[in-house]
Amino acid sequence: MRVFTEKKLIQKQLQQFKAKKQTIGFVPTMGALHLGHVSLVIKALENNAVVVVSIFVNPTQFDNSEDLKNYPRTLERDTNLLNAVSSSIIIYAPSVDDIYEGNTKSQKFSFGGLEFEMEGKFRVGHFDGVGTIVKRLFEIIKPDNAYFGEKDFQQLAIIKAMVKNHNIPVNVVGCPIHRETNGLAMSSRNERLKPKYKKVAPFIFKTLKTAKQKFGTKSASKVTEWVEKQFDNQELLELEYFIIADVESLKPVKRKSNKKEYRAFIAAYADDIRLIDNIALN
Ligand code: PAF
Repeated sequence: MRVFTEKKLIQKQLQQFKAKKQTIGFVPTMGALHLGHVSLVIKALENNAVVVVSIFVNPTQFDNSEDLKNYPRTLERDTNLLNAVSSSIIIYAPSVDDIYEGNTKSQKFSFGGLEFEMEGKFRVGHFDGVGTIVKRLFEIIKPDNAYFGEKDFQQLAIIKAMVKNHNIPVNVVGCPIHRETNGLAMSSRNERLKPKYKKVAPFIFKTLKTAKQKFGTKSASKVTEWVEKQFDNQELLELEYFIIADVESLKPVKRKSNKKEYRAFIAAYADDIRLIDNIALN
């Protein structure tokens, strides 16, 4: 298992694979790896000659300094986990300086309006930070294929828009949400949940599943009302938003159309841990 901390060195190594026309699959992460990440890595291994996983807690995408401070940093455990999946995986775990070269700031992006919906409303500047780091990582690694989970569906849409707008030669692959057996979407934040919140957190997916059923016969606003009521009755979880949106524009649906695809999105707090999840509705 090779772990690089400097872009110059990983680029030199990757150049050798590129010279042999070997495809590079890339899984960007912020570490604290779980089986959801592993599923992305396995997909990358299946479809590429070389797989690079980056582990970097990107400061510019955090709108909350406490969240950045508390984000789990578990490089040794992450390296061991990846090594158990395949010792051929190449890890890029840079310092903030290797990435930002003394200027830890986001670039400003326009993602065609996608950035103003949902997470964009509640996490100001978040998507500029995500765009900045993912673009920079793409420039360093120059992958053929890059893998992102659908749990962060809006992030995935934004990255696809960025790749298109900036003509970045990479194929962005969206991968299904990986869940605990109780339905809770896997997330690096889950390990910070105190036991009583961990117990109640699967309520989020349970509610999404019922919302999906209800959306078959009811309007988006009726389903939204129903979900909000469920959370009013659930003391331990605080709903930040529930939105049924068109998957293309991510704008909330006003009137259902058979020709469109919809998804329901939730953000909720379990104590001070913010959890997000989503489900395809049709
Ligand atoms: O989804 C994440 O873990 C991060 O937003 C990403 C894509 C690695 C960028 O820091």
